[in-house]
Amino acid sequence: MLSEYMRSNPTVFHMPGHKLGRGIPDRFLENFAQLDMTEIPGTDNLHFPQGAIKEAQCLAAQAFGADQTFFLVNGSTCGVHAMIMATCKPGDKLIVARDCHKSVIHGLMLAGVEPVYIQPGFNPLFGISETVLPSQVAQTLIANPDAVGVLITRPNYYGICSEIREIAQITHLHGKMLLVDEAHGAHLKFSETLPVCAMEAGADLCVQSAHKTLPAFTQSAYLHVKSEKVDVEKLKRILGMLETSSPSYILMAYLDIARAIMEAEGKQRIEALLQSIEQFDQRIHLQTELTLLKEGHLENGALDRTRIVIKTSDAGINGYEAEKYLREQYHVQVEMSDRKNIVCIATVADTDKELLSLEKALLGMTKELRKTAEGTDNHITEMQMPIQKISLKDILYSKGNHMLLKDAVGKVSLEMITPYPPGIPLVCPGEVITEELVEYIYGIMSQGGNVTGLSEEREILVAE
Ligand SMILES: Cc1ncc(COP(=O)(O)O)c(C=O)c1O
Repeated sequence: MLSEYMRSNPTVFHMPGHKLGRGIPDRFLENFAQLDMTEIPGTDNLHFPQGAIKEAQCLAAQAFGADQTFFLVNGSTCGVHAMIMATCKPGDKLIVARDCHKSVIHGLMLAGVEPVYIQPGFNPLFGISETVLPSQVAQTLIANPDAVGVLITRPNYYGICSEIREIAQITHLHGKMLLVDEAHGAHLKFSETLPVCAMEAGADLCVQSAHKTLPAFTQSAYLHVKSEKVDVEKLKRILGMLETSSPSYILMAYLDIARAIMEAEGKQRIEALLQSIEQFDQRIHLQTELTLLKEGHLENGALDRTRIVIKTSDAGINGYEAEKYLREQYHVQVEMSDRKNIVCIATVADTDKELLSLEKALLGMTKELRKTAEGTDNHITEMQMPIQKISLKDILYSKGNHMLLKDAVGKVSLEMITPYPPGIPLVCPGEVITEELVEYIYGIMSQGGNVTGLSEEREILVAE
């Protein structure tokens, strides 16, 4: 299957960020199998680093502006779980922006922590969620003085970034910690043109998936700490519990290599990429009805413009349809699509060549499909946050029955229902399924979207 994909000579606008190895110099790809090592004298130990791994983590901390950095071999998922478990204890409250990845919900369940959700703003033009406002964070902190801290996701999957400096200041003013899921922002530190990164903006902890936006391998991630409030010894103990006792030396080596590449060349490569994207945007604007997301489209927040979000619904093509057409007719594979948009991940491994292939494919698609905007369901409205009836802590141990989603209105879900990607849950375990949600989920599926948490028969597990 993998060989077949490679034979199709794809243009890849998806993860991993090394883009089929292009972003990693050849000398680092030779004798690859010999890097697959174990803990023997001289190779150090991730769970008790004293040698090369310790040195590599220190270099990463310097490069990313952290006090301490931990290499992760189980993605940001593991880092998110560790952040929550290291800062909260069972029964604690954590303020969480609701546009979080499912790893956050799982982390809350594992830690027995109760979320106090903040609903991020909604961008009706693109039909996507925007940012959480500093004022929302302030209000929620005032209403919940017993909360341990705040967890935000920034950038979101569309590259939209909340105003983190203000959020950090407010959170600290209340004596709380700011945890940031920066899974999509490992590259931000390396360019002043991009929005500020979490460590620089005052976050106490943040996780970054190196594999998403840096030339690094899948599953590799960093966990950064810059705080006097975080109990680092506890964090280490938690990581020791959550991560494998046989961490991949390949992943760790490439976390170090990605850091070195970005330190040496990240700035000029990102600047070049941003220029190429700007020119690409102008050409697309002149030749098609498609719209690229720009900061001017946002009501609030900043935009990471390496994330290319293209509204295809203006050309009468829904995002799922566009993704399929580009793949099948042009061998261009995007990272994800939704009802209105396709999302492309561009990294320092991309050049004009890849953008030209994407342009050619988009022009071809709009000409060949010849649709009009009236044909698409262009009116996507903001979803109401469902009501939590059973706590995350309790729902983990609840029993359930399967039933058809269409019959489950009013029932409490045991599952997380998540369009994937982006992996942001529409319904979390313990929440009540509404008619509006059911309609929305069927709408996604009928247009070709992928939804996890339902069986092939479209059944859902609900609490007894
Ligand atoms: C916002 C966000 N956080 C966390 C994760 C989990 O990251 P990983 O796949 O590195 O475990 C993802 C994955 O897509 C994500 O989008």
